Amino acid sequence: MQRFANKVALVTGAASGIGAVVAESFVAEGGSVVLFDLDAAGLDAMRDKLGPASISVVGDVTSDDEVADAVHTAVKTFGAVHTAFNVAGAVRLGKIVDIDPADWQFTVDVVLKGTFLTTRHAARAMEQTGGGSIVNVSSLNAHVPLIGGSAYAAAKAAVESFTKGSALELASAGIRVNAVLPGLVATPMTEDILAVEAVAQDYYRRIPVRRAAEPSEIADSCLYLASDQASYVNGTSLVVDGGWEITNYPDLSALL
Ligand SMILES: NC(=O)c1ccc[n+]([C@@H]2O[C@H](COP(=O)([O-])OP(=O)(O)OC[C@H]3O[C@@H](n4cnc5c(N)ncnc54)[C@H](O)[C@@H]3O)[C@@H](O)[C@H]2O)c1
Repeated sequence: MQRFANKVALVTGAASGIGAVVAESFVAEGGSVVLFDLDAAGLDAMRDKLGPASISVVGDVTSDDEVADAVHTAVKTFGAVHTAFNVAGAVRLGKIVDIDPADWQFTVDVVLKGTFLTTRHAARAMEQTGGGSIVNVSSLNAHVPLIGGSAYAAAKAAVESFTKGSALELASAGIRVNAVLPGLVATPMTEDILAVEAVAQDYYRRIPVRRAAEPSEIADSCLYLASDQASYVNGTSLVVDGGWEITNYPDLSALL
């Protein structure tokens, strides 16, 4: 498929994990990408891999100026921004009674403020060219809390809400905005957890498909929502979790 021929995407968090595969898949389908991340070495590796259909901008999604610069660079280099994928994410864990408020704020800023800033600058550029689409990578944690991760879960829930607010505000400019809520994905973010076999198995027991997602399985959903195949999909959340969210009931199959 070449769903993104002559299209330009801004991908935050593009140096690793889900964002890297989103960028790679977008280019494989004919598009060009602006890779945005804090990780300069990771961006260099991605640019080497993707070639002239990619440029990179090192920056922080929590910086209004740096996000604005990435969007300007995209427009200057490729002429427009048609799609933005808000994938950058990070988390500092800590229980509510213990966590340093600065660590709480760090997580909320990367997850929520980063999504806001990228949406704001990308939407301004999209308004100039008749519209586009934005895909926010939230998390199953928007619906399911985790101990020690209250800042992350609350911020991801806020991203889901922000997605709906953005869809409402930006529809008149021809911009669709949707969210993907991944469950457990095998990326550098989860490799420490999944390296502990007992913990990994505890996760897999709860997930009906009994495994973590590959990053490409999340990227595929992001690309669908960004594409014209989703032209009437707006303000929605696509949970991509192998059925994890629906497991809150005992397995009665032994009785049947
Ligand atoms: N891995 C999972 O199980 C999982 C599940 C649900 C949601 N998510 C979400 O998916 C997204 C991608 O995560 P991943 O698993 O690919 O993780 P990852 O750690 O592999 O990639 C995250 C990328 O974001 C970049 N980043 C972090 N803070 C940034 C900042 N302030 N500015 C710019 N870039 C920044 C990192 O440098 C990194 O390249 C995140 O938003 C994460 O919360 C991941």
